[in-house]
Amino acid sequence: MSVNPSFTRGDRTPPWGALESHARGAARQFDLRQAFAADPARFDRLSLQAPAVFADLSKNLWDDTVRGHLLDLADACGVARRRDAMFAGMPINATEGRAVLHTALRAPRGQGPYSQDVHEVLDRLLGYAESIRDVGRSGIRDVVNIGIGGSDLGPQMAVAALDAHVHPELRFHFVSNVDGHDLAPVLRRLDPDRTLFIIASKTFTTQETLANAEAAKAWFLAQGGRDVGRHFVGVTTNLTAAAAFGIHTTFGFWDWVGGRYSLWGAIGLPIAIALGADGFRALLSGAHAMDGHFQQAAPEVNLPLQLGLLDVWYRNFLGFASRSVAPYHQGLRRLPAYLQQLEMESNGKSVDVDGQPLPFATSPVVWGEPGTNGQHAYFQMLHQGTDVIPVEFIAVKEPTHGLPGLHRKLLANCLAQSQALMLGKTAQEAALESPPTASASMPPAVIAQHRTFSGNRPSTTFVLERLDPYALGALVALYEHRVFTSAAVWGINAYDQWGVELGKALCNQLLPRLETGEVSGLDASTAGLLARLR
Ligand code: F6P
Repeated sequence: MSVNPSFTRGDRTPPWGALESHARGAARQFDLRQAFAADPARFDRLSLQAPAVFADLSKNLWDDTVRGHLLDLADACGVARRRDAMFAGMPINATEGRAVLHTALRAPRGQGPYSQDVHEVLDRLLGYAESIRDVGRSGIRDVVNIGIGGSDLGPQMAVAALDAHVHPELRFHFVSNVDGHDLAPVLRRLDPDRTLFIIASKTFTTQETLANAEAAKAWFLAQGGRDVGRHFVGVTTNLTAAAAFGIHTTFGFWDWVGGRYSLWGAIGLPIAIALGADGFRALLSGAHAMDGHFQQAAPEVNLPLQLGLLDVWYRNFLGFASRSVAPYHQGLRRLPAYLQQLEMESNGKSVDVDGQPLPFATSPVVWGEPGTNGQHAYFQMLHQGTDVIPVEFIAVKEPTHGLPGLHRKLLANCLAQSQALMLGKTAQEAALESPPTASASMPPAVIAQHRTFSGNRPSTTFVLERLDPYALGALVALYEHRVFTSAAVWGINAYDQWGVELGKALCNQLLPRLETGEVSGLDASTAGLLARLR
């Protein structure tokens, strides 16, 4: 019997079969150009407005039949019940026996589980952040966050995204890699008396973070730094280990907050220092508004639900193995990396919650670069390669840079790419053109073949009015709930990450061998490489 009897895995429900038949039949004929020609209201019908995020879903390879089956699938799997169980604090992270309550971190005071604990830490965190922002008194000019994975990617992404809102006299640095080439160039630019190190680690056991923290402390002392207790603070659930490191100021969180879902609490300290208390609270309220949308909006207009179901359609029925994210905002340059952890660490699983091997695919590869840079690198493959890769464009209407002549060009590029993916170009159309760089010795019909685009390639476009803390909070929460949705259909636990452990354990075994050169018992490849690297 399932450990979660009230939820059913997607492939064991009738709508799954209906989607399979549809994918093998009518869906093969689906053509976006024809769909738009046949239905002038397609854009209006397939666009959704969620808090701070407008989404055009109309350039996707689906129609009312597919959407109907997908909604039936969500219903049959009990996605809504599972969602309610998460918000209520049920231990839906079954393999670790934990609740999943990052949503509680952004619930207003008095609402949501653990409200008193959450707001106690939040008030203290924001008070501390404000004290650092008072640079005249604090003396701090550089804030260095040392953490990795969820203790790095969220704050790093958000501080970059909200650059226009960041304290003008503070600089932020993010060090994650145990490669000293990460920490060393940062340290070179620092004055110990004016630097605050945040040691961010949920467990306070992560090799990379502890090694970097030790190296930073040694540098600090060697540079004549005084008062480690004032210049090093900790963010962790493991207050004992932080104290053993010599940190007196700590901000805690709880085991019901997963690392990749943790930017809303104490792990968000760099964000809070960058934006100030009001900005951080705005980030939380944007996310909370998206939580409300996910909980209350009808399935047909529920954006995270629709996106998660679309992901299932693409992954399991059309066989698309990756999704490209293209934020047309340079501030969102770390969003793809953030989403990689959020989605691939959550949903990169091959057994269901009962430990049964899955007979279908789960997490796609999520990847991308900001537009327009990606256009000059891998978009060639998106347009003419042999794989169909759904692209997710993110456009922001109002820029904050104040420079003339740039923003319209950026937006025109964004629109043009989704249009080109959809429209394509036939060989006949290509034959009518005379490209100046085409070889004169090659027949024009052959050149036209090279210049043909199949089109009918799917994309989604998100539009934000502006990239402010509220909108970023809503956008990130949207992605969280979308990941939740596909996980619920797949019947997997999106909140553990056992897959990272084997490599960590083997690393611990290899570490002394790098010192001694002892290779006995190792496979020949690892032994040979180890010998070369010594
Ligand atoms: O290696 C994976 C992981 O456990 C992530 O899930 C987590 O975000 C990261 O390492 C960092 O962990 P910690 O915050 O405990 O240092």
